[in-house]
Amino acid sequence: MNVALKTRILPAGEAAVAAAASCLAEGGLVAFPTETVYGLGADAANPAAIARLYQAKGRPAFNPLIAHVGDLAAARRIARFDTTATLLAEAFWPGPLTLVLPKAADCPVADLATAGLETVAIRVPAHPVALAILRAFGGPVVAPSANLSGHVSPTTSAHVQGDLTGRIDLIVDGGAVAVGVESTIVGCFEQPMLLRPGGLPRAEIERVLGRALAQPPADPDADSGQPLAPGMLASHYAPRTKVRLNADRVEPGEALLAFGPAAVPGSDGAAAIMNLSPRSNVDEAAANLFGYLRALDTKGARAIAVTPIPNHGLGEAINDRLRRAAVGRD
Ligand code: TXA
Ligand code: MG
Repeated sequence: MNVALKTRILPAGEAAVAAAASCLAEGGLVAFPTETVYGLGADAANPAAIARLYQAKGRPAFNPLIAHVGDLAAARRIARFDTTATLLAEAFWPGPLTLVLPKAADCPVADLATAGLETVAIRVPAHPVALAILRAFGGPVVAPSANLSGHVSPTTSAHVQGDLTGRIDLIVDGGAVAVGVESTIVGCFEQPMLLRPGGLPRAEIERVLGRALAQPPADPDADSGQPLAPGMLASHYAPRTKVRLNADRVEPGEALLAFGPAAVPGSDGAAAIMNLSPRSNVDEAAANLFGYLRALDTKGARAIAVTPIPNHGLGEAINDRLRRAAVGRD
């Protein structure tokens, strides 16, 4: 972006909600808190605003966006809900679940936001500020995570400011988010498919469905020529510092990202140490994950050594993000 924008920062409240709604209506870009991570919103029906959004994030335009709406009735104007989709929406919305569904005939979401796919990703966020903005604006808002493309998702407004000041119009500061990892994405295809593990644990979805979620094919591009979850690039969510997984000790000069109460050998020589959850709670670890990665990324460490994290509950999403952070950074 050539000319730096003046980015306003407002504390969450009635004035911020009104400012956000009018900014969106004018084609502006507004960062706001959701329960998962901060989102960067634009009017889903305004292609010029969406083009600005891709540019502000440095995001490839083949990576489609999630449309955020205030309730299931609004979602039904965008997409076609079969019985499975209705079941999941009624069970988990508002909440950290995104559904990928066939577009409705007169879907108002611009093709640019769906990267030309026949499907659209939708969610109803469970955050009072996000819902108030959606209600005040009155239409669907596309919102990727409010970080520069490829960077770690923001869980505080300070993270958003660090990445996007001068590139967007408004940041609504609603404090730290509760969940800390992005929404779980389920494709409502013939077989409901887990496209991205996230803030809603797989087991809760499978309990409601009464069956296991299908896994995406190992190489989703192979059959259809179109990726099922185009944003799931192998290297994503990456701090600048190399990430080393499943560490059972810290090498000199490494930073340590620990989990649980156990002492980690070599800690004395660590450049920095943070513990995602000393009491081994995966929900607490998810809430801390991106903030701690950002903090350890500033320590000038040789690498960030991460101890093993159990895969149950939100652990699946944590391990997914950590694997992506570790890819291709040796
Ligand atoms: O928790 C979240 O989901 C946050 C908050 C802000 O709501 N948003 C978020 O958006 O994580 P983003 O853009 O960072 O991730 C959206 C993901 C991408 O992996 C994208 O490829 C996928 O959703 N996606 C969007 N539309 C899709 C579609 N029609 N089919 C398959 N995947 C889709
Ligand atoms: Mg993102």
